[in-house]
Amino acid sequence: MHLKNSWPLPSSPKPIVIIGAGGIVNDAHMPAYLKANFNVIGLYDIDQKKVLHTAKKWHLKSYTSLDELISNAEVNKAVFDIATPPSAIKGILKKIPIGSTVLIQKPMGEDFKDAKAIRAICRRRKLTAAINFQLRFSPMMIIVQDCIEKKVIGDITDLEVHLNLLTPWELFPFLKNMSRVEIAVHSIHYFDLIRSFLGNPKGVWAQTLGHPSSKEFAQTRTTAILNYGPDIRCSLSINHNYSKGPNFQSAQIRIDGIESAAMIKLGLLLDYPKGEPDEVWIFPKVGTDWKKIDFEGGWFPEAFIGTMSNLQRFASGEDKNLYTSVEDAYHTMSLVESCYISSKKGDTALAR
Ligand SMILES: NC(=O)c1ccc[n+]([C@@H]2O[C@H](COP(=O)([O-])OP(=O)(O)OC[C@H]3O[C@@H](n4cnc5c(N)ncnc54)[C@H](O)[C@@H]3O)[C@@H](O)[C@H]2O)c1
Repeated sequence: MHLKNSWPLPSSPKPIVIIGAGGIVNDAHMPAYLKANFNVIGLYDIDQKKVLHTAKKWHLKSYTSLDELISNAEVNKAVFDIATPPSAIKGILKKIPIGSTVLIQKPMGEDFKDAKAIRAICRRRKLTAAINFQLRFSPMMIIVQDCIEKKVIGDITDLEVHLNLLTPWELFPFLKNMSRVEIAVHSIHYFDLIRSFLGNPKGVWAQTLGHPSSKEFAQTRTTAILNYGPDIRCSLSINHNYSKGPNFQSAQIRIDGIESAAMIKLGLLLDYPKGEPDEVWIFPKVGTDWKKIDFEGGWFPEAFIGTMSNLQRFASGEDKNLYTSVEDAYHTMSLVESCYISSKKGDTALAR
């Protein structure tokens, strides 16, 4: 059976301007756009040193102000690609011209209140805006989504995200000042992905906590259970502080259905941002064995081609749905908020 593993490109790609010239732009946005032959015309960052460095590395025009970037974007009818920390998003969106097309790095603001404000700005300014929840657009997840749509997996009964690895948090210094870290910045990808497969859960139980070895970061570990009713078990077990070497590391998502099952290895996370290959395995049916699916690429950078392609194709009428629109991403932010509320509320005391 042929399975889809990439998102179609826009037939007439628009030029792109990038706001923010930090780690993720260098590690994923630019490699993806180069690979897809997207035309990035220039970028801006409040830190001029970073702008100059990144512009030189990728042979781009550097702007000295947001206003300069915006006027260039207007002349070229460019798409805006925001890749700043979440605290900067609202201020930037307020300046972006009414009716523009915008991709915004996740998370959609610092918390749910911020997400509401971002959604209101996007509505008020009539922006065609999506959040860069790109895991859904990785080759692995497009394969799994295709399996689900072709009824290979059948009704999903069990979905588990399991991480046990060492994440180099020092690559993200801005996280040190944030009160919400692990779920808001990392596991948010899994919550968004789970929503893409199962929709919104009825509720959640969660605990998110730090670790003695990474005291500068508010939380680095999470356990969560999502309530999808009596037929589906859905859980996340996330430990970013496993420091005992490569043995017994894991970064897996298992989706088990009535007919079949899928297992995804998130190789990227095992040696971030260089990464090991991502993998997808399908268990076709009882009586057979697990089969490794061949595909090219992985989460980084191919998934970043997908979010930009879906946005541009939606803006031009080629795609019917904008899958990670701010309207949809708002629900992922709501789920994240519920996890923090649950974690704060605490446990059920032992019965006496
Ligand atoms: N897989 C993913 O989706 C993924 C991975 C890593 C980071 N991210 C997200 O990308 C965002 C940026 O992360 P990063 O690792 O590149 O951080 P970074 O600190 O390396 O880069 C952020 C850049 O934004 C710039 N900036 C801040 N405020 C600005 C403003 N008002 N205008 C213009 N530039 C501004 C900073 O000077 C900095 O250069 C974060 O929100 C993070 O959560 C997403």
